[in-house]
Amino acid sequence: MRTLERLEQLYGIGGGPSANRPAYSPAEDEALAIAAGWMEEAGLAVEHDGAGNLIGRLCGTEPQLPELWTGSHLDSVPAGGRFDGALGVVAGIEAVERLGRQKPTLAVVSFRGEEVGCLGSRARVESGDLPGAWVELHIEQGPRLDRAGLPLAVVPGIVGYARGEITFSGRAGHAGTTPMDAREDALVAAAERLLAIREAALGIPDAVATVGQLSLEPGGVNVIPSSVTFSVDARAPDVERLDRLVGTVGFEPTLRVEPVAMDEDICTAVRAALEELGLPAVELTSGAGHDAGILAAAGVPSAMLFVRSLNGGVSHSPDELSSPEDVALAVDALELILRQLSR
Ligand code: HGY
Ligand code: MN
Ligand code: MN
Repeated sequence: MRTLERLEQLYGIGGGPSANRPAYSPAEDEALAIAAGWMEEAGLAVEHDGAGNLIGRLCGTEPQLPELWTGSHLDSVPAGGRFDGALGVVAGIEAVERLGRQKPTLAVVSFRGEEVGCLGSRARVESGDLPGAWVELHIEQGPRLDRAGLPLAVVPGIVGYARGEITFSGRAGHAGTTPMDAREDALVAAAERLLAIREAALGIPDAVATVGQLSLEPGGVNVIPSSVTFSVDARAPDVERLDRLVGTVGFEPTLRVEPVAMDEDICTAVRAALEELGLPAVELTSGAGHDAGILAAAGVPSAMLFVRSLNGGVSHSPDELSSPEDVALAVDALELILRQLSR
């Protein structure tokens, strides 16, 4: 199946054994160049915008109509999986190639830097040059579809998230000669706060909080840490709970993306595609952030289609997995959605 073969080719960039395509890195550049080649093979006119986002267009028979865009991102987290982002771009090329010219211009887009704050889609929003509508296919990155025994879902909304750092200051000292009651150990303070952050998230329904990065100084095995800085990624499905979580965690976010609803009309087209495939139109709010959230918040009618994650829903990991059957169904559904929205 060409979609899976193409995903494997992208996954192999950098030699594996996982996806390592940091934002604006040579690896992401290579992935974009490969995808641009596939777009050209499909007859799309390829360009890069000012932020380096890749856009492949199939000019419509009525090009004055607002453009209909699909796609996702080709950057990855460190040691990522095959499907996160890449599936939306590769499946978008497949679906547009199958559809051929429609009334509106169809475009397949790979936004840069999604994993580091949706840099490319934010830049596109700031440019003011926005499409008529956005449809993004993405792997669920969680266990819910697999638990329900279903392959696809409509995504009516995306959680909000706040990211920032917290720094702890202590006093460097000798690991052997400093009594335990005379220490100002920055790492102990950080550890206590990390557990408090976990409790804060556990205390708010459907909220989550993660410390994914940590640095300390001076870093000697026999030196009491004098300074620790760790990242915080806090998420919740609505503004009230996100505010409560940020307040309870007690940090100043440097990035905040509000929870956002997808467009009802575009979601209706997603539901119609699932029904045409004989599937229930189950709905899952996304716990992951996506470029669709940035575009939707900017007023671009947007919706997402999730495909089932296997392996317990693991993502941001080489173990990320979706079955060939589900991927094939997802591409079929994307084609139906784009056809429906092109009428
Ligand atoms: O972090 C996220 O939610 C997404 O994978 N960028
Ligand atoms: Mn993603
Ligand atoms: Mn991701």
